[in-house]
Amino acid sequence: MNSSTNQVYPVIWHNDSVSLIDQTRLPNEYTFVEIHRCSDMAEAIKTMIVRGAPAIGVAAAYGMYLGAREIETNNRNEFLNSLEKVAQLLRSTRPTAVNLFWAISRMLKTAYETLGTVEDLKQTLLYTAQTINAEDLQTCYAIGDNGLAVLPKTPEKLTILTHCNAGALATAGYGTALGVVRSAFREGRLARVFADETRPRLQGAKLTTWECVQEGIPVTLITDSMAAHCMKQGLIHLVVVGADRIAANGDTANKIGTYSLALVAKAHNVPFYVAAPLSTVDFSLSSGNEIPIEERNPEEIYKVGGSTLTPDGVEFYNPAFDVTPAELIAAIITENGVFAPGELANSRLKQVAIP
Ligand code: MRU
Repeated sequence: MNSSTNQVYPVIWHNDSVSLIDQTRLPNEYTFVEIHRCSDMAEAIKTMIVRGAPAIGVAAAYGMYLGAREIETNNRNEFLNSLEKVAQLLRSTRPTAVNLFWAISRMLKTAYETLGTVEDLKQTLLYTAQTINAEDLQTCYAIGDNGLAVLPKTPEKLTILTHCNAGALATAGYGTALGVVRSAFREGRLARVFADETRPRLQGAKLTTWECVQEGIPVTLITDSMAAHCMKQGLIHLVVVGADRIAANGDTANKIGTYSLALVAKAHNVPFYVAAPLSTVDFSLSSGNEIPIEERNPEEIYKVGGSTLTPDGVEFYNPAFDVTPAELIAAIITENGVFAPGELANSRLKQVAIP
């Protein structure tokens, strides 16, 4: 039972195009951008109109269909060659979230394996993108409910700290880390969420708090540097975060600041969980050292509300993600159950994760 009256769906197939919630305008404006062309989808992913690993995957799947629709040939080989170029354009948008590459591979594989005319291939690609979208929603419901198993058995209701936005906005809907929060709230187990603001792009302050307010989930915003103090005061029962890419050994890339949060949680004996679909596990990487980390425009750190914070002559470094070592992670909550990070490499999971 996961239906909710205020459900948010960031990526919707509608009237032969894709409607994206413009996440760069939240929480002040709740508006949609209509995407008709693959190049516009690539731009929307790059500029973070749509963001969050699973949502990027869903958006890229539709981007593949939009690109396929633009290819003007009836020749199968010519079509597949052009589709490879569409895939390349979408792959070049953001490097860290593996769901992007996973969804593009699944779409390409579908095209190669589908028999029939080019028109048949295009229809099958649309159907596959819609399936990826629908599956991700079900996956999030399962992750949320599987997360109930890790909630500490306390007489009082729980306070969960999360970082960035791993909510409905970051997925097909419901969310991964925020999916666990939603399920806990539904079961009457949640007192409140503490949301890290998540410098520099403020996904926690702008998006996570917005989602919580939509559903009446009690939420407290803190700056990233306040987490240790809150834990020392005993305000936090557990931490749950999402993931952009998990290596086979359980090392997890997520929004910058996640690693320091995990260290702080360890120092205070607060359990630290990752919630993610199996499509976020990259079994081709043996450790987190191999995960590519996106660096974004330094303006994100030196400009706030249009004003420049720094004097001339300063240099900047703006990595968008960091890697939390597996040993700091109590468990990984997936749609197939809850696993110790070291258990991920088992072959049954591999079968699910690789398209
Ligand atoms: O740069 P973003 O906003 O795309 O980063 C998002 C995150 O780091 C999320 O925590 C992650 O993608 C998991 S979303 C379910």
